[in-house]
Formats: sequence, structure tokens, C-alpha cells
Amino acid sequence: MYKEQIDMTRLPEHIAFIMDGNGRWAQARGQERSFGHSAGADRMHDIMTCGTRLGIKYMTYYAFSTENWSRPEAEVNYLLDLMIKHLEEEIFMKNNVRFRIIGEMSRLPQKMQDACNHLMERTKNNDASNMVVAFSYSTRWEMQRAVRNMVKDVQDGKLNPEDITDKTIDSYQMTNFMPNPELLVRTGGEQRLSNFLLWQAAYSELYFTDTYWPDFDEECLYKAIVDYQHRQRRFGKTGEQVVDEAKKEK
Ligand code: IPE
Ligand code: IPE
Ligand code: MG
Repeated sequence: MYKEQIDMTRLPEHIAFIMDGNGRWAQARGQERSFGHSAGADRMHDIMTCGTRLGIKYMTYYAFSTENWSRPEAEVNYLLDLMIKHLEEEIFMKNNVRFRIIGEMSRLPQKMQDACNHLMERTKNNDASNMVVAFSYSTRWEMQRAVRNMVKDVQDGKLNPEDITDKTIDSYQMTNFMPNPELLVRTGGEQRLSNFLLWQAAYSELYFTDTYWPDFDEECLYKAIVDYQHRQRRFGKTGEQVVDEAKKEK
């Protein structure tokens, strides 16, 4: 239904997802939260496949935040094991998708670090799309890391403080290999960013839906893209300026 409404010439290059609502989805079914996480992880693969077929070049999935470490230990362990299970090479190879992870890798169990490194290496030549998983990620942590590295480079004489621009800051972020997301989707009804891509989403179009992540299907993705395509992105200019510039481009 929504798919036909998508303008294929104006697809977002990067869509970021805050996959929220797994626990509530399970609880509404009288199940344990883990049941929702498992359904949510499968959904992540479905959306990756669908987005890749559509032609979305980058998709970033917020799977586990720095703050999520403070959940009950059993839930944290479940989420770590689940992620390892979903790093199957086959689905990435079949879809020609490159895998990347952003976040504090050193905090992850060795087994997971190994699985991530293996998959990144195996998929490094895949070029239909990029699936980026944000795990043990938060922008405040990412910024701390960036500032430390920048200061170190200044001390080592590799970086001149006068030359620091927003592009320099971009280059010190974990997301430096991809464009900023044009569209940021959060499922599960909450309207907040929860420490996700705060710097990168400065001009993202935000799309909030009450749908819980395990119910976020292809149709939901198409609907979000159609909604995005109906917005006028002004970047500080007036609506008239934006219309004039679009006319000149034609
Ligand atoms: C999102 O679902 C997944 C993670 C944060 C790991 P939640 O587990 O936050 O689900 P709700 O918000 O409690 O329903
Ligand atoms: C955000 O979900 C993090 C992920 C989806 C991984 P949370 O459920 O942890 O967010 P808050 O705590 O409700 O803001
Ligand atoms: Mg939540």
C-alpha cells in the first residue's frame, strides 16, 4: 500500500532505528521480556533485508545502550547471547550487506567481540547496504572518546586546535564512515532519543510510532519513508528558498 507511494529517486541514504518496545510487546502477550527481545532481533533482520532491497544504503539499529548495562543481569546476558546468535554470516552474505558495530566494544564479552570482528571482516566487500548495530553505544560515551582522542592528537602535534571544525568532530566519531541519518525512527511510543546519535541527528527527520518494535514490519518501514518524503527539509532557510533552489536544480 505505502510502497507504491515511495519516490524511489528521493530515498533516504541512511535510516536509524531506535528499536523500542520489545518488553512491553512480550508482556502484552503474557510472556517474559526475553520473548520480545527474540522477536525484535528477528525483526531487525527482516527490516535489514527489506531496506536493502529497497535501496537504503545505511541502516543503523540501536540494540543496546550504555544505560542498558544497568538492567537486570539476566536480561543483559540474554541480550548479549541473542546478539551473538544474530550475527550469522549467511543472512549478510545472501543480502550482500556489510556489517559494522559502533559502541564500547571493550565492554563486550570476548566471544561477542570475536563474532563481531569476524563478521566485519567477512562482509567488508559487501556493497548492497551497510547494517550498523549500535551496541553498548551512547553519544555521550562516544563524545568522551572523541574528545580524548582529539586532545591526544593535539598533544602529539597531529591536530591544530584552530583547525577543528564540525567535520573534524565528525571524523572522530564512531559513525565517521557514513552520512548522517536523514530519517530517525523510534518505535514503542516514547518520544526521546535516549542518548542515540545526538550529534549525528542534528538535522534528522524524527519519526515516532506507537508500534512496538517486534510489530514493525515492511509496511511500517514504507509508511515511515513516505512520511519522511512529505516533509520539507529547510536546514534553517525559508520554505520559499527551498522551493526556489529545488526549481533551479531541475
Ligand atoms: C528495546 O526494548 C530493546 C532494548 C532496549 C534492549 P525494551 O526492552 O526497552 O522494551 P520496553 O521499552 O521495555 O517495552
Ligand atoms: C533505548 O531504549 C535503547 C535501545 C532501543 C537499545 P530504552 O528502552 O533503553 O530507552 P529508555 O530508557 O526508555 O529511554
Ligand atoms: Mg524501552
